[in-house]
Amino acid sequence: MNKELMTKRISENLEHLKNFTATPNKGCTRLPFTKEARQAANYLKTLMQEAGLEVKEDEAGNVFGFLRGTDPSLPCVMMGSHFDSVVNGGDYDGIAGVICAIEVARQIKEKNIIPKRTFVTAAFCDEEGMRFGTGYFGSGAILGNRTPEYCRTFTDKDDITIYDAMKEYGLDPEKIENAKWKDNSIGYFLEAHIEQGPVLDAEKIEVGLVDCIVGIDRYMVTVHGRSDHAGTTPMNMRLDAVDAATKVIYKIADWARETNDGSVATVGYIKTIPGGMNIVAEACEFTVDIRSRNVKNLEDISAKLHDALEREVGAMGGSFDIQNKLAITPVHLHKPMLNMMEEICKKHNFSYRYMHSGAGHDALEIGQVVPTAMLFVPSKDGRSHCMVEHTEYSDFAKAALIMTELAEQLITN
Ligand code: GLV
Ligand code: MN
Ligand code: MN
Repeated sequence: MNKELMTKRISENLEHLKNFTATPNKGCTRLPFTKEARQAANYLKTLMQEAGLEVKEDEAGNVFGFLRGTDPSLPCVMMGSHFDSVVNGGDYDGIAGVICAIEVARQIKEKNIIPKRTFVTAAFCDEEGMRFGTGYFGSGAILGNRTPEYCRTFTDKDDITIYDAMKEYGLDPEKIENAKWKDNSIGYFLEAHIEQGPVLDAEKIEVGLVDCIVGIDRYMVTVHGRSDHAGTTPMNMRLDAVDAATKVIYKIADWARETNDGSVATVGYIKTIPGGMNIVAEACEFTVDIRSRNVKNLEDISAKLHDALEREVGAMGGSFDIQNKLAITPVHLHKPMLNMMEEICKKHNFSYRYMHSGAGHDALEIGQVVPTAMLFVPSKDGRSHCMVEHTEYSDFAKAALIMTELAEQLITN
C-alpha cells in the first residue's frame, strides 16, 4: 500500500472540505440541512463517484457509495462517519472518518480485491445534534429510529423544526422511514475518528482501539418565572427563572463527580428570556448532557435533575418543561474485530492501546444493533470541538490502512 499516496489524497480531500463552513477563519461550522452541508454532501458524492462507487443520497440526507460484492445476499460491510460539525469546531471531527472510508474503497479497488460482500462508504447527516439538540439523526434513520413525528418534535434556536429544515434542504421528511435499511442487511460497521481527547497524544501511541462508547442522555430544560422590574420588585415577591434554574445548574457537575467513575455532565447552553440586565427573567433555558459507561449513573443523574427542578422551581413558584432530546445506552464494540485490528497493528508495528470513548459517534447508534469496530488516531493536545483541533494527515492514512486490511478480511468472507 502506498502510504504517501493515501496521505496525499486524504489531505487534498480534507483541505477542500475546509471551504464548506459558515464561519471562515473561525473553525468549521457545518450544521445539518444548511448550504454548507449541501456543498459538503455534493463534494462527497463526487469523491465517491470518482472512486468508482455507485452513489446514493437517502431520505435522511446521508450519502452512500456502494462497491458491489459478488454475493448480494450477504450483509454488507459499511464504513463511515458524519459530515456535520459543531459550531466553530475542527476540520476533522467526523469528516476525516468519511474520507478514510472513501480511501479504503479506493484501496480495495486498487488492490484488485474482489469483494463477496458489498462495501459501503457512509457520510452521515447530523451526528452532532448541534442544531436541534438531538444527535445521530442519519445513523438513527438507517436503523429505522426516525419518524416524521420525530422530525416535527425538535426545533433549533430559531424554532425551525427538523421537518422544515429538511424540506428547505430538498428532502421529504414524510419519507424519512424509507431511509431504514432492511434488518440484518448491514453485517459490520467500521468507523475511524480522531480521539478528541489527550490520551494518545500524551502517551505517544499511534492507534486507539475503542472497546466501549459511553451512553448519553440529553435534555433541554425551560424554567418559567415572571418578568418584572429588577429594581422595584422585592426579592420575596419575584418569580425569578434564573434564580431557580441556577440553583439546579450548579449541582449538575457535582452529581457527575460524585459517581467517581468518569461519568460527566455538562450544561453547555444557557439562555435567559428576555435577557435584559434590568429585567427579572421570565424564562431560563439550558441544556444538560450526561454521559457514562454505566446506565445506572445516567438514570441517577437524570432523576436528580428532575427532583431538583421540582424542588427549586416549586420554591420559586414557577413551572418548568423538560424535553429529553437523546437517550442512548453505552455500547461495547465487537471483540473479534478488535482482535483483528490488534493483529493488523502488530503486523505494521503501530503502537496501540485499548480505550473507551467519552465522545458519542455514529458507531454508538449503529453499534446498538450491528457488530461495530472503531479506531482513534491522536488529537494534538486532545483538543476538539474547537478550531485548533489537529491531527496529522499521515495518521489518517494509518487509520485507512488498518481499516482496509480489516475490511478486506470482512468483505472476502
Ligand atoms: C459528538 O461529538 C459528541 O460526543 O457530542
Ligand atoms: Mn464526531
Ligand atoms: Mn463531535
